Amino acid sequence: MLAWALLVRYHMARRSGYESRQWHSSRDRNRNRADCGGRRILFAQRVELQNPVTDTPGNLRDARLHFADHCAICHANDGSCDTPFGRNLYPKPPDLRRQQTQKLTDGEIFWIIENGVRFTGMPAFGGAHGSEEDSWKLVRFIRHLPQLTAEERMEMEQNNPKSPGDREEEQEENEFLGGNPMQQKPEGEHHHH
Ligand code: HEC
Repeated sequence: MLAWALLVRYHMARRSGYESRQWHSSRDRNRNRADCGGRRILFAQRVELQNPVTDTPGNLRDARLHFADHCAICHANDGSCDTPFGRNLYPKPPDLRRQQTQKLTDGEIFWIIENGVRFTGMPAFGGAHGSEEDSWKLVRFIRHLPQLTAEERMEMEQNNPKSPGDREEEQEENEFLGGNPMQQKPEGEHHHH
């Protein structure tokens, strides 16, 4: 398994000279704020790899929740890039549902997730234990994005990381419900004589 992974890595590193090229004109900068980026990653050669992860409901669900947790902050749960973070990145993330992404091979999408895109906000997610399996699952999810259902999206919303504001609110609620020890007066003080 390790040998296989190393082989694939070596293979890809050699074959996939890539660059991220801007192909929108300066006029496009004034487009509607919710528009996604118009950049495209160009691979010197097609990266042809077969996805070793199957398209089961369980794998798709893992990928959905993983995406909600790690990717949606920039890409949005539905891949539209319409998040405060995504909109303010430059270059912006592309709409993952559109042809530009869907036309990439599975191997290319996998490669991008593992290695990131240099000089952009797209981080590399490879290297961690188990990351390759996770990345292959995410490839399945990206293929599924154009058919994402409202139900799936709602489930994802529950798994989005919370903003600091939400966290504070939650903490206040917990303190209220659980009783904040700082506000509890010591027993003795209450006694009336
Ligand atoms: C911090 C913001 C950020 C996060 C988090 C992020 N991305 Fe990206 N992603 C980007 C940006 C920006 C680009 C566009 C890069 C470029 O200009 O070529 C991008 C590009 C991509 C592309 C290439 C699409 C194409 O058509 O070229 C894929 C696939 C992708 N991201 C998947 C993911 C996945 C899966 C995750 C989570 C594991 C993730 N991204 C997390 C910002 C992010």
